[in-house]
Amino acid sequence: MDVAQRVEACRKRLQSLDGFPLLESERLQLRAPREQDVATTFALFSDPTVMRYWSRSAMTDEQEAVEYLDGIARGFHERSFINWIVVDRAEHRMVGTCTLYEIMPQHLRTGIGYAILPEAQGRGFASEAVHMAVSWAFEVLGLHRVEADIHPDNLPSRRVLERCGFHEEGLLRERFCTASEIQHSLVFGRLVSDPTPARAPRRVGGPAEDSGPMLA
Ligand SMILES: CC(C)(COP(=O)(O)OP(=O)(O)OC[C@H]1O[C@@H](n2cnc3c(N)ncnc32)[C@H](O)[C@@H]1OP(=O)(O)O)[C@@H](O)C(=O)NCCC(=O)NCCS
Repeated sequence: MDVAQRVEACRKRLQSLDGFPLLESERLQLRAPREQDVATTFALFSDPTVMRYWSRSAMTDEQEAVEYLDGIARGFHERSFINWIVVDRAEHRMVGTCTLYEIMPQHLRTGIGYAILPEAQGRGFASEAVHMAVSWAFEVLGLHRVEADIHPDNLPSRRVLERCGFHEEGLLRERFCTASEIQHSLVFGRLVSDPTPARAPRRVGGPAEDSGPMLA
């Protein structure tokens, strides 16, 4: 397939997804949001340690979490981003989010972002969720490149990307405004042709999820 054919195939695959994708590994489930996720979403995005390097300010009202989850349904409807709720399968509870944002079939690429509740950090959940989302983006959508940009001081995020086979590609100066600073972005990229890292977690395939449980 030449590039134009790959672009067309990717566009078709994205448009023809028959429901919000459900991804499963032995430990994790990446699923569509549900109404009961509001409180945990608010806990996650109102936590100052989670929001320290995030590109928006911390939530201060639970209604913002409701709007955030509503936005996920819209993003999927428009196929512009896919924002999964990350669930610890053993405990049946939401532990974070993992997002393919700015999905661009015309350039065969997407961005990726992720956040894990402080009490669930350090157990490899982010690395596993990123690995699952990246594999899905390459294998199911046929994308060529996944990229992330992080605050240069965000060492846990850097480790997640390194563990998932991303390469550091460059520093973009003073690119994001937070409440207190204009921060640099460190860009990482992973190509479909890059080797899968040896420590990558094993993924168990899952069916597409019915869009029923999503917030309207
Ligand atoms: C980044 C984040 C998602 C990582 O979640 P996590 O589930 O703890 O990640 P993992 O357990 O998969 O891996 C964390 C890695 O960071 C390392 N790490 C954790 N804290 C660290 C620190 N203070 N300094 C250096 N490395 C650190 C861990 O040792 C681990 O690396 P290892 O596997 O080589 O040991 C989590 O810290 C978070 O939600 N941060 C706030 C939101 C954010 O900044 N998201 C990224 C922006 S895109």
